[in-house]
Amino acid sequence: MSVMPATEPGSPPSERTALRRRFLMCRPEHFDVAYAINPWMDPEQGADAGRAVRQWESLRDAYLSLGHEVHLIDPVEGLPDMVFAANGALVVGGRAYGARFAHEERRAEAPAYAAWLKDHGFEVLEPLYTNEGEGDFLVLDDMILAGTGFRTEIAAHQEAQEFLGRPVVTLRLVDPRFYHLDTALFPLGGDNVAYYPGAFSPGSRAVLERLFPDAVVAGEEDAAVLGLNSVCDGRNVVVNEEATGLIATLRDRGFTPVPVDLSELRKAGGGPKCCTLELRA
Ligand code: ARG
Repeated sequence: MSVMPATEPGSPPSERTALRRRFLMCRPEHFDVAYAINPWMDPEQGADAGRAVRQWESLRDAYLSLGHEVHLIDPVEGLPDMVFAANGALVVGGRAYGARFAHEERRAEAPAYAAWLKDHGFEVLEPLYTNEGEGDFLVLDDMILAGTGFRTEIAAHQEAQEFLGRPVVTLRLVDPRFYHLDTALFPLGGDNVAYYPGAFSPGSRAVLERLFPDAVVAGEEDAAVLGLNSVCDGRNVVVNEEATGLIATLRDRGFTPVPVDLSELRKAGGGPKCCTLELRA
């Protein structure tokens, strides 16, 4: 009797399947570093909105050339961080769990994203608890991973679980550079992740090791250029180009890295994933 060989962790690219995604993005016309709410931000140094727009356009073009759908929300003047669409909500199964920002400076983004989602047919829950959308909630096939420690409250994890009907697993972030879960971890398809262990508490690290024995474990150098703020469609991984170690590992594992330069947006503490909200039907 013959047995099918187990899939090797480094299976060839042909075995990885890309799924078409629907993304919501916000052109950074009003982008700036005007306040500091994370250690990446230096208002003295500011930022160049024109350069940010050009880099953002290359990210949007990368998604379009991979065959993904990109929807746009109008940027609002006076909301320099609105480009980080991931923070606008968490959308699963046509239902949108709305955001409630931790900092006053970003609070007005929540109703703008909620209005767009309502207008486009999503059922939106206005949350009771502080949470920054997909910045702190990452969706896998069988569970949602949720960050806490800097922005999103644990009560929001429970609120999201109840509204979306998906199990939510709490992970504690401990390094202020990695203030959102999506700065330290990204899903690799529906059942695996890549992450930087140093961003997590010992207990949460143990949870990640148990859930994902086959994870891509990234080092500090890749994490420090926001390499973990990546978007994987099952085969392609849109990733900051400076994360060279991670890019090599992903290639070895049979993924296709798609490097992008978002250095201007990193001045606000954001990367490709931060600029991208997934709309899951
Ligand atoms: N300056 C923004 C903040 O501190 C950056 C948000 C990045 N978004 C993300 N999903 N990690 O809130």
